[in-house]
Amino acid sequence: MRSFEETITQPLDIGHLRDCACPPNHLNCLDAKEWMKSQIGVWQFSYSSKDIRDKSLHPATFPVALARRVIELFTHSGQLVLDPFVGSGTTLVAAQELGRNAVGFDLKPEYVELARSRLADSDPGGARQLAICDDARSISGHLDPETVSLIFTSPPYANLLNRKRKNKSRRGDLRRNEQYLQVEQYSQDPRDLGVLELKAYAEEMASIFRTLVPLLRPRAHCVINVPDMWWEDQRITIHVALIERLRAVGYELRNIIIWDRTNIVNRVGIFGWPSNYITMGTTFEYLLDFWRPA
Ligand SMILES: C[S@@+](CC[C@H](N)C(=O)[O-])C[C@H]1O[C@@H](n2cnc3c(N)ncnc32)[C@H](O)[C@@H]1O
Repeated sequence: MRSFEETITQPLDIGHLRDCACPPNHLNCLDAKEWMKSQIGVWQFSYSSKDIRDKSLHPATFPVALARRVIELFTHSGQLVLDPFVGSGTTLVAAQELGRNAVGFDLKPEYVELARSRLADSDPGGARQLAICDDARSISGHLDPETVSLIFTSPPYANLLNRKRKNKSRRGDLRRNEQYLQVEQYSQDPRDLGVLELKAYAEEMASIFRTLVPLLRPRAHCVINVPDMWWEDQRITIHVALIERLRAVGYELRNIIIWDRTNIVNRVGIFGWPSNYITMGTTFEYLLDFWRPA
């Protein structure tokens, strides 16, 4: 495994150019039939043996299959993928499977080690995947302008995990599981976006993503996975805050895709019955697809 010191070069030693034979105007290496499948705006995925589902290792991972779909849709083989909040390294694992170069950043050394160990499990091909322990605010110092073909990430959801879990989406006795009344926030590090109130969080996200615009190739995509949340009977519209703030710093919103999670959520509790209709946040999340305009 590479040591931390070895990977921190400025800029990082990582490839970003296509190594496929696709025509220059193609967005990806997909054929027309595979492209058609991705036109449907609601996506579903199942977990596989490569997924981290143990919440004590990381409380908020997405499936490798989701990262694969986004990477296949918006990059060619050999191009560079960036995940500014890489957590357990799922984006890097998918990039490795698909022969993409990729770099991911996370504040928490334990998560960076976990990401590195997941990568060490497989046989690396020509492309490199690096997990770096650093603040997302420092990324622009690590990469050259216009080298990134895709940003894909699931950022912290403001401070919504930074409170004791009540497991309201669980049914009856299932509510008092090992997560009950636990705080699942990644860390209390003041640089962690998960300790900020929604307004401060949205401003910090805008300021970080502003620094990432010059790293993207023109028309390169930036896909952000977020849910909305309920708190004290109020809907916290994280997706609206992010759309507004990212538009203000130079991104153009292209698509909103719904990640339908109903196939992986089961035995849910009852919400709001009989007087207050509330959709369950755990049943779907948003994939906000922006690009850097040409
Ligand atoms: C939702 S998780 C990402 C999970 C990831 N998609 C996975 O599958 O494992 C968000 C991550 O952002 C990290 N984080 C929070 N603030 C950060 C910052 N300022 N810079 C870098 N990483 C940060 C947290 O440690 C956490 O692991």
